[in-house]
Amino acid sequence: MNATAKTRIVGAPVPRKEGVDKLLGRALYVDDLERPEMWHGITVRSSIPRGKIRSIEFDACIDWSEFAVVTAADVPGKNRIQLIVADQPCLAENAVNHCDEAILLLAHPNKHKLREAAAGVKIEYDPLPALFSIEASERGDVIVWGEDNLLKSFTLEKGDVDSVWANAEHIIEGEYRTGAQEHLYIENNGMIAEWNAERGVTVWGSLQCPYYVFKSLLAVFALTEDKVRVIQTETGGAFGGKEDYPSTLACHAALLAMKCGHAVKMFYDRMEDLAATTKRHPSRIRHRTALDRHGKLLAMDIELATDGGAYSTLSSTVLSRATLHAPGPYACANIRLRSRAWATNTVPYGAFRGFGAPQAIFAIERHMDEIAAAMGLDPAELRRRNFLHTGDKNTTEQEMREPVILDELLERALVESDYYARRAGFARENPTSAVKRGMGISAYYHGSGFTGSGERTLNSLAGVEVTREGVVRVLVSNTEFGQGTNTALTQIAAETLGIHYDDVTMAPPDTGIVPNSGPTVASRTVMVVGKLIERACLQLLAALGEHAELGEKFTSAEFFAACDRYRAARGKVESLCRYEAPPGVYWDDEKYRGEAYAAYAWAVQIAQVAVDMVTYSAEVEEFWSVQEVGRVLHPVLASGQIEGGIAQGIGYALYEKVVLQNGRMANNQMTNYIMPTAEDVPPIHVYFEEIPFTHGGYGAKGIGELPHDGPAPAILNAIRDATGVGVCSIPLLPEDLFKALIAATEFEEPAVL
Ligand code: MOS
Repeated sequence: MNATAKTRIVGAPVPRKEGVDKLLGRALYVDDLERPEMWHGITVRSSIPRGKIRSIEFDACIDWSEFAVVTAADVPGKNRIQLIVADQPCLAENAVNHCDEAILLLAHPNKHKLREAAAGVKIEYDPLPALFSIEASERGDVIVWGEDNLLKSFTLEKGDVDSVWANAEHIIEGEYRTGAQEHLYIENNGMIAEWNAERGVTVWGSLQCPYYVFKSLLAVFALTEDKVRVIQTETGGAFGGKEDYPSTLACHAALLAMKCGHAVKMFYDRMEDLAATTKRHPSRIRHRTALDRHGKLLAMDIELATDGGAYSTLSSTVLSRATLHAPGPYACANIRLRSRAWATNTVPYGAFRGFGAPQAIFAIERHMDEIAAAMGLDPAELRRRNFLHTGDKNTTEQEMREPVILDELLERALVESDYYARRAGFARENPTSAVKRGMGISAYYHGSGFTGSGERTLNSLAGVEVTREGVVRVLVSNTEFGQGTNTALTQIAAETLGIHYDDVTMAPPDTGIVPNSGPTVASRTVMVVGKLIERACLQLLAALGEHAELGEKFTSAEFFAACDRYRAARGKVESLCRYEAPPGVYWDDEKYRGEAYAAYAWAVQIAQVAVDMVTYSAEVEEFWSVQEVGRVLHPVLASGQIEGGIAQGIGYALYEKVVLQNGRMANNQMTNYIMPTAEDVPPIHVYFEEIPFTHGGYGAKGIGELPHDGPAPAILNAIRDATGVGVCSIPLLPEDLFKALIAATEFEEPAVL
């Protein structure tokens, strides 16, 4: 299929596939579901950040015979959650490595009895010294993980960085920090499990990746694949937060189900979800950059560190994505990257929309504005002089074979925002105004799909089947959690088969029914899995037509008639396709070189920010986002992705602060972990430039993560423009901005009235 071909359904704002069910309350989330004679579970968690468990005692006032009690000793298989490195226990054995680590599980038929019972479990510890910062971990104050606290490291050298410094016209250094961030999906984590000696384990839950959960259940219960079934229930938001954690929760619910012989539901309230589940990795990124007198990049020396928390979870791949995005969308011949993920004694940090890129792009895009200021250059012009262009090679020597149109994106953003006129106006008003305004830019790319050889390793399988009832079902393990998977994939199937959008549905997201088309992460669904659906549909048409040309269309009625004939002859109508890497896409893991991503999506964002010089609060007043994401399959959903990512990016920059005390989240409630509300989200102008990507579903590239990468640096660059002070760390709450402004200016005694 020609990616630019005229289409009926792809590109049209068709109704969201599950939209009506959600609107009418028919969509069932895990907490809407009951199983016969279902019990409820609760988790007893560590109250200390690190130590040995000395004893567990049960309050004699409680009748424990009514409860099911599960500890690590009840795990029939391996007591390890199966992510990249299987270092995280499903339940703590003799030691704990972070506050709120799960130690013991309780179940009871009456959920109102659980909280009191959990309080009746008394755990004594022998505390050990703990680490709470990147610095403490890298100094090795104590060793809490492996031999050196190092969860993962990468080194990349391109060209000869050291030869450049002596002759560079400008050398600019900076250190940038980003904080943790909580996903704040509307629906908290929840799971229901059943266990049966013959049938094995079945779980229903709020999750992104059925086959990730499947893998952990196999190991924890030592079961064969036919004895484990994972079913995603309607999921109220995820943002990466349901990529890793549901594997743990599913095992917990299933262990309780095995112990009590009933279905068990575990559903976290907001405080537990905030305190105990993963968040975005905090980071510290140092840049040392050499430039010639025209502002052309000569060398970039980048040192990147992330806080991984107590277990490795997905820290290695988050670090890899951060590393690969750290130099930004710029051409530079000499690059040295050293990156490390450090273990500490906090809840493990995990996947969150952007997956390391927002941290990396905050640093490079803030740094570009510091360079521009130091050199007296216009921030847009400095970027323009260094942008990657078609045919250039990026950090990993990947040639940009697809068109790169950063210059056009920047130009459009400058024009649409009236950037220069607004900036000039603010420059005139700011000196005498109690509210100072500024404009800030960020420019960047985001790799679509799994990093490096990830997509080859995943080897995804996806396709379609046609039921006897005359319905086409899309067979994927990719899940809907608000972002539009169901809609985009059914659009692709209906378009390719030439049938009506309503004739296509999604097969249930159930590992007993759908093949493993990989996890729903990394902005891969429409590009990678969408392409598999497109191919599977073409393959089906060819099979139905027998002698027809590949891709020849039927009318809708002819299509289903042909399906009936085919079924009569062969039993079932099904077409599956396996992932094939686009030609020339090859990654060398050893050398950390090659095509890190099959495609990149590109964006330029501009923020207009007002800083109140009395309250020190910063407010985003207007926002422009221009992006090239390949073909846009659904204009409304695509704009929604961009707007939502920007809202989340505004929270990351200005509101959301995870406060840790002794390694435990102290503000684990929405009253004091502040996220932007509708009041705080400004008018957002979204523009797409569409360059179809041949190897993505109908020309699509990744879109989901892209919009979250750019707002934080654009906003802090705008604050720099407004106040003259470049702040290098987020989140930037009013008290932080107050301190930064005071530190940067000479302190003036307030006038005595
Ligand atoms: Mo993710 S952060 O769901 O790739």
